[in-house]
Amino acid sequence: MNRLELHDLEVTFGGRTVLQVEQAVFERGRIYGIVGPSGAGKSTLLRVINLLEKPVRGRMDLFGSTVDLSTLSYRQSVPIQRQMAFVAQKPSMFQATVFDNVALGLRYRKLDRNQISMRVEAALEQVELSHLHSQQAQTLSGGEAQRIALARALVCEPELLLLDEPTASLDPYNITIFERVIQMFHRDRRTTTLMITHNLPQAKRLADACLFLHKGRIAEQADTDRFFQRPVSEELQDFVFGRMIC
Ligand SMILES: Nc1ncnc2c1ncn2[C@@H]1O[C@H](COP(=O)(O)OP(=O)(O)O)[C@@H](O)[C@H]1O
Ligand SMILES: [Mg+2]
Repeated sequence: MNRLELHDLEVTFGGRTVLQVEQAVFERGRIYGIVGPSGAGKSTLLRVINLLEKPVRGRMDLFGSTVDLSTLSYRQSVPIQRQMAFVAQKPSMFQATVFDNVALGLRYRKLDRNQISMRVEAALEQVELSHLHSQQAQTLSGGEAQRIALARALVCEPELLLLDEPTASLDPYNITIFERVIQMFHRDRRTTTLMITHNLPQAKRLADACLFLHKGRIAEQADTDRFFQRPVSEELQDFVFGRMIC
């Protein structure tokens, strides 16, 4: 009930296997850092969990409900996707105001106007951008847009938050705010969070546990301290100590 589990997962593109996971377990309420070289399959893993990518085989247990990932229909996927929110590396803003961009998910869920307004304003406050609520979202700076993308994810109060290198193109000021919001949200709601990052100090700051993906496999998984201080596999040692040649 209190876990996200993946079993017997295989993803192929054009006949090439890019992700193979016998079993992965994520405890509810923890923050996981996902690291690994480029092309290791990190984004594919999050996209599969978010039901954006169909594997050739695989089962997911999401907090008590089991889904066969390879046969799932669009209709079946909607209620599962609504338990999750995804923030990608590059924010995509709709041609609308900041307020409307953040409100989007709540409108899909058919909340009433007052509730939407209250929750959107609270989310904008969290990301410290209340003053921009009437601005056209497409005119935002990169850092602002990414914080709005985070507000848009958090306003839906997801059970599972999926972050794919969300701060990779942000400056230190925006990274600090972004991390603070994630930590605050996690403290308040204990949202299970999976975060891909190339920023190892960031994984150390935020994650309770980390996974190392290498060549489409989970090569190592451990609590964050052990992961960085005593990596077991040679690949993770090379990665952590900057010796990995991709
Ligand atoms: N839609 C796609 N079609 C073909 N190959 C893909 C597609 N998406 C990802 N890949 C390939 O799958 C592998 C894993 O990609 P990805 O999950 O994006 O890696 P990472 O996020 O770790 O950098 C890469 O070799 C990439 O080229
Ligand atoms: Mg990626």
